[in-house]
Amino acid sequence: MAENVIFYFSGTGNCLDIARNIAKGIGGADLVRIKKGMAVTDVSDARKVGFVFPCYGGGAPADVLKYAKEIKVSPSAYTFGVTSCAAYKGTGLARLNKIIPLSYWGVITHHCSCIWLFPHYLMMPRLSVGEAEARSKKLAAAMAKDIMAGKVRKKPGLNILNAIENAGFSGMLKKKASQFEVNDNCIACGQCASICPRENIRIVNNKASIGTDCAQCLGCLQFCPRNAISIGDVSKKREHYHNPHVKAAELSKDEEHIG
Ligand SMILES: Cc1cc2nc3c(=O)[nH]c(=O)nc-3n(C[C@H](O)[C@H](O)[C@H](O)COP(=O)(O)O)c2cc1C
Repeated sequence: MAENVIFYFSGTGNCLDIARNIAKGIGGADLVRIKKGMAVTDVSDARKVGFVFPCYGGGAPADVLKYAKEIKVSPSAYTFGVTSCAAYKGTGLARLNKIIPLSYWGVITHHCSCIWLFPHYLMMPRLSVGEAEARSKKLAAAMAKDIMAGKVRKKPGLNILNAIENAGFSGMLKKKASQFEVNDNCIACGQCASICPRENIRIVNNKASIGTDCAQCLGCLQFCPRNAISIGDVSKKREHYHNPHVKAAELSKDEEHIG
């Protein structure tokens, strides 16, 4: 492994894009996707170890916290966390900090990937996709500078409102997971199955079949080249979103090296 490693969780590409931009600013890194059957867990040789993940329901995606417990980091490593969100960072960084103490953390708002909740342009501040991308790149570059300087950023505690919101979120996700529909536009290309972080999608009788073990990353729906996947009626009407710099094939990789 490289001396810098960044673990990322991403459904629609914003966090992979942020991880890449930070990696460029710190002189390169190995990027490892957080998913079922994660490729790398022992990074005890790495000098800088980062985590980039979205805010989901006021907290971190459950898989980030679950797999963080398996990751071996040297106590002398510099550690950092970045959360991407549409509006507010939530409790994810504070929770991760309890598992892997973080030296530094930051937040980058970006377009909203939660299609059943809001249209994607409802982010804070409200920006076009191009403007949001430019802002995200600038913030990631500034964080990379801080990381290179070994900056330690004072960490605020858990936000009680987000903690309450997050407590009810896993129940809501279970309900949502049963609402996926795949229509006849599906050409069984298998892209959704290859990017699913939980291996929850299979091709059955020439059609994608989505199980109930869903992380709600919504990558399957948002990247589908045929708009064949929906989750509730509202998602059928809404414009899809994925990060303009990230292709689905790149998200299906377990690892990526930024040199
Ligand atoms: C299931 C789900 C829940 C989300 N919950 C929140 C939230 O509570 N607060 C927020 O600001 N953004 C929320 N978002 C927006 C994402 O955090 C944001 O779009 C992020 O940039 C997505 O990263 P990705 O493209 O790497 O998947 C949510 C998105 C999803 C899919």
